[in-house]
Amino acid sequence: MAKKPIRIGLIGYGFMGRAHSNAYLKVGHFFDLPYECVLQAVCARDEAKVRDFAQRWGYASVETDWRKLVQRDDIDLVDICVPNHLHAEIAIAAARAGKMILCEKPLAMNAAEGRKMVAAVEKAGVPNMVWYNYRRVPAVTLAKQLVDEGRLGRIFHYRAKFLQDWTINPDLPQGGTALWRLDVKAAGSGVTGDLLAHCIDTALWINGRIAKVCAMTETFIKERKHVETGKVEKVGIDDACAFLARFENGSLATFESTRYARGHKALYTFEINGEHASLFWDLHDLHRLQYFDHRDPSVVRGWRSIHVSDADQPYMKHWWVPGLQIGYEHSFVHQVADFLKGLETGQPARPTFRDALETQLVCDAVLKSARTGRWEKVGTVS
Ligand SMILES: NC(=O)c1ccc[n+]([C@@H]2O[C@H](COP(=O)([O-])OP(=O)(O)OC[C@H]3O[C@@H](n4cnc5c(N)ncnc54)[C@H](O)[C@@H]3O)[C@@H](O)[C@H]2O)c1
Repeated sequence: MAKKPIRIGLIGYGFMGRAHSNAYLKVGHFFDLPYECVLQAVCARDEAKVRDFAQRWGYASVETDWRKLVQRDDIDLVDICVPNHLHAEIAIAAARAGKMILCEKPLAMNAAEGRKMVAAVEKAGVPNMVWYNYRRVPAVTLAKQLVDEGRLGRIFHYRAKFLQDWTINPDLPQGGTALWRLDVKAAGSGVTGDLLAHCIDTALWINGRIAKVCAMTETFIKERKHVETGKVEKVGIDDACAFLARFENGSLATFESTRYARGHKALYTFEINGEHASLFWDLHDLHRLQYFDHRDPSVVRGWRSIHVSDADQPYMKHWWVPGLQIGYEHSFVHQVADFLKGLETGQPARPTFRDALETQLVCDAVLKSARTGRWEKVGTVS
């Protein structure tokens, strides 16, 4: 049977533009879906570079103004892979133009902007999703499955970290194409929106709503030269953030993120301790899930390292043979597959914009608490 084309308009061809393009190209080879991803157009500001990208990845056409791409009749889906300050404006315009929208995380610069985005996609009735891709690393999906099955019993603790070390050099400038993450006007926040947002999304998904938080942040390098103005300017982002949280289910949590942990590049880890069992996951060893079950006979009781590669483990039947693992890029393939499956079944793939707003509300409460020095309640979506 002929597959229905979904004509994609990609905005931004950096790290995520490549990860998503790779996913669109692979998904139809590994998943049976009634849809086919068509790489219709890619948009970025530099015409020569965007043409080069289009040729390399197989996009049929290019644009240098995202507004034009969003209005094109031959685009069904707009994929937003640009710095955070552009997410809201593009998403709202795309919703008004009736496009399906996939948006990179964090949803927005803050929850107020996020609310406008949710209102826009819901008013337009367009399918929407945010790329919190770690949910779809098979070992992370398995962690969620084990918690949902009740294997851990009552959850007492959730502990997450996301550690990097790439901004320690005080001579690193802020802003511009390469270093927009250090410029608060483009990023909205530092590690909170960039890295902790991932940890928060996973935590909300596995362990439910967070009721309140108590946070501290630090900006270790207070001033950096701005790439665009050439002037030394105040740094407005948080370089590091640590917060305590209480989930609505009564469990206690600690979250920590920094770009100043020498020796760590992308160490995302989480551990969950329940009444009967515990789980631990580590992005550097992403195909493994560590599991300890107190109900095992004491003579063999211990942490087991589950190599998530079997056909009955999440997503793995679509790939190779048991024992052979997959990697980071596959989480994006899974996310596209689930999005397309959602179009087919009418059960939208998650996180939707509305789900991602929950994460944004936690980020807002974290940043507020860091300012006030008090526990802050997390706002509700509606
Ligand atoms: N899901 C994840 O794990 C993950 C990982 C990295 C980044 N992200 C998110 O993805 C988004 C992009 O991050 P990245 O790492 O790909 O950044 P990047 O700097 O590698 O790429 C950004 C792209 O946006 C383009 N761009 C900037 N302004 C534009 C404009 N006005 N019009 C058109 N194009 C424009 C740039 O040319 C570049 O191609 C961010 O929101 C980031 O938070 C998510």
